[in-house]
Amino acid sequence: MTHQLAVVILAAGQGTRMRSATPKVLHRIGGRSLIAHVLDTAAGLSPRTVIAVVRHERELVSQAIVDHAPHTVLVEQDEVPGTGRAVELALAALPGDFDGSIVVLSGDVPLIDVPTLQRLVEGHTREGRGMTLLSAMFDDPTGLGRIVRDASGAMRGIVEEKDADEAQRRIAEINGGVYVFARRALEDALAVIGTDNAQGEKYLTDAASRILAAGGAVDAVATDDTWLIAGVNDRAQLAEVGRELNRRIVLAHQRAGVTVQDPATTWIDADVSIEADVEILPGTFLHGATSIATGAVIGPDTTLVDCEVGSGARIRRSEATLAVFSAGATVGPYSYIRPGTELGEGGKIGAFVETKNAKIGDGSKVPHLSYVGDAVIGTGSNVGAGTIVANYDGVRKHQAVVGDGVRIGSKNVLVSPVTIEDGAYTAAGTVVRKNVPAGSLAMNVAPQRNIEGWVVANRPGTDSAAAAQRGEDEREQGSAEAREEGDRG
Ligand code: UD1
Ligand code: CA
Repeated sequence: MTHQLAVVILAAGQGTRMRSATPKVLHRIGGRSLIAHVLDTAAGLSPRTVIAVVRHERELVSQAIVDHAPHTVLVEQDEVPGTGRAVELALAALPGDFDGSIVVLSGDVPLIDVPTLQRLVEGHTREGRGMTLLSAMFDDPTGLGRIVRDASGAMRGIVEEKDADEAQRRIAEINGGVYVFARRALEDALAVIGTDNAQGEKYLTDAASRILAAGGAVDAVATDDTWLIAGVNDRAQLAEVGRELNRRIVLAHQRAGVTVQDPATTWIDADVSIEADVEILPGTFLHGATSIATGAVIGPDTTLVDCEVGSGARIRRSEATLAVFSAGATVGPYSYIRPGTELGEGGKIGAFVETKNAKIGDGSKVPHLSYVGDAVIGTGSNVGAGTIVANYDGVRKHQAVVGDGVRIGSKNVLVSPVTIEDGAYTAAGTVVRKNVPAGSLAMNVAPQRNIEGWVVANRPGTDSAAAAQRGEDEREQGSAEAREEGDRG
């Protein structure tokens, strides 16, 4: 049988320094809450069970946890404060026969990763320790627990900053708050840990000296990668850790063959998938479950939320949510693509176009200045510049249906519900209120009438009237000269 693991995630703290109505662990980086990152990492260890300890904003935090990881066991912390008490209550929720290792993580330390934890557990098990933790050397260890070692370098315990003396405060090795314990050693230690300290809390960190006193082994393993244990306590740290997470996500895509021209202005959520040979230009934001197929070029200045982009598609200076762009489609610049938009292969949504719930077939084009909402357009059709689908009658939304090979003239209004059948044309400026049968030309614009001399007669004294007068004079002179020439000839 493989060595069994349980993971305990501490998420009962208040997070006062965030100054937020939202619980700290529900703040987001990389498109997921802090607690979701930690839950994903926990799941990556394939543990027998994951237990989360909650208290502050219990309903909200619990809901977020079960929404993200439904099998998580929730434990509520009582009024005894401290990380030690939190873990003690979590242990009580473990099956009695469970005798494996317990990994303890914090809900506000989101960058800890699976390989680091696996190495930590491996060393812990190999050495048969009661406790192994991740430490790091900090130039400024202020606020963190210090690792106390004896002259031989053997770990003797952990002292919290508030309980430390002068000499202990100068210790650079800090407790990262990421631990592996043997169940029995931890249980025995917690049973005898009190709250007699500067904060009046039951410290998990006191387990180190207790396990040593009981004859067990403990050690701290230092990591060079201090981001792994970076905690989020305020908004500034939220931004720093978020930026570092993004840097790591971008780097992983670059290593997998994605060109990212400017990592500093490119933001990619953790759940985004990108194939090799995609090119991402500066100022691009890829959010949610967006996926991008090979050869696509995205950006500059583009935001995609939960979009599917086909191979070789080109999207620039545009914003899209819940849309599908097929292979070879082009979008932008300056278009706004709303949920339910599906653009077919080689299709085009050009400049200054808004779409919503619109299926635009293979090779069809909406090139300029249009609104296409609640519409189905077939293949190889063209929508003229400035065309609007009037889908809303003030009470209800209706659908427009456009067939294959249709040519809609410039500045049409399609008053839905309406159908334009295959191969039909509409003239410029048509207000399409009636269905257009296949192959017909629709027009309803009144013939143009030119009323001569209208401006001079009705707008005297204006620049236009003056210009009209000059034009008329020149025309008269021109015809007079022509007459003279005619007389001579
Ligand atoms: C803790 C460590 C400290 C370490 C630091 C690393 C203790 C006593 N100290 O300090 O040595 O350097 O982490 O980041 O453990 N929590 C509960 N219940 C509680 C108190 C806290 O669930 O009663 C949770 C918090 O929500 C948080 C985590 O435990 O997720 C750590 O608690 P926090 O108060 O932030 O501990 P630190 O003071 O940072
Ligand atoms: Ca903390």
